[in-house]
Amino acid sequence: MSFKIVQQAPARLNRSELAVPGSNAKMLEKAATSAADVIFLDLEDAVAPDDKEQARENIIQALNDIDFGDKTISVRINGLDTHYMYRDVVEVLERTGDRLDLIMIPKVGTAADVYAVDMLVSQVEAAKSRKKQIGFELIIETALGMANINEIAAASPRNESLHFGVADYAASTKMRVTTIGGPNPSYGVLTDAPEGGGERDYHWGDMWHYAIARMVVAARANGLRPIDGPFGDVQDAEGYKAQANRASVLGCEGKWAIHPTQIDLANDINSPSEKDVSQARRILEAMEQAQKEGRGAVTLDGKLIDLASIRQAENLVQKADAIAG
Ligand code: GLV
Ligand code: MG
Repeated sequence: MSFKIVQQAPARLNRSELAVPGSNAKMLEKAATSAADVIFLDLEDAVAPDDKEQARENIIQALNDIDFGDKTISVRINGLDTHYMYRDVVEVLERTGDRLDLIMIPKVGTAADVYAVDMLVSQVEAAKSRKKQIGFELIIETALGMANINEIAAASPRNESLHFGVADYAASTKMRVTTIGGPNPSYGVLTDAPEGGGERDYHWGDMWHYAIARMVVAARANGLRPIDGPFGDVQDAEGYKAQANRASVLGCEGKWAIHPTQIDLANDINSPSEKDVSQARRILEAMEQAQKEGRGAVTLDGKLIDLASIRQAENLVQKADAIAG
């Protein structure tokens, strides 16, 4: 290990993150009874400019009145390039109690963006003697944000998670997309013809791989949770599962749900299976035994397990314990 100790963000379940437009008071109420681990109450892109003020009022009322149980609650503020942003922060923090956990900052482009919001939040927290320190969720969804992702991830001790905002990212980079967060059949490779002739194969590629993998590394290097963003075709559960699985395999801890039907899919895919958990427990037991006997490496079911296997197994067991509550 490096001599540098990476401070880990506060541990939270973040398997699913439900987006709820602040302009829809009924949906805010309904979200409270959902199975989402995290809910973000949106003031940004799901709210039309004429509805921004009403949405802010709805969210303030929801934070004061609705029982969100043990869910993590976040508010997505407007971007730093708008005149809504400062009032989003000030009004929401000045007029609510300590129920709010996180502020989600969209379209973060530089570390200074995070610094600016940190300053504002710190002033309101101090002025109002807020007890619970607000954490930050940062959406990486522009070319600028992706270019500066390492500095952004390290910009504030409030940072808890990085999110891949696939829709805006595609707009910013001018990628060609067919569905938000889905594959594009034009992104693929054609194999050589088989020896002796015959059909060539065409393999679809994952056009989001680079962005997600880069976000995972920047997040983990700074002790943050990497979270995959939206999947636009809410009718396509299989498509959602494929994208969520791929992000999870790459190291993401969760995925957004932009419709309630996507919550269970995200929770399921981002929970370790019983089989994986019992295998992880077996690995930990085998290693404990090996350590007692002074052996560094050991085989289990014919496969080598070493100290890296322990860390992976510990991660899995910790996650399973957190889910079990
Ligand atoms: C989320 O905000 C996105 O742009 O995908
Ligand atoms: Mg966006």
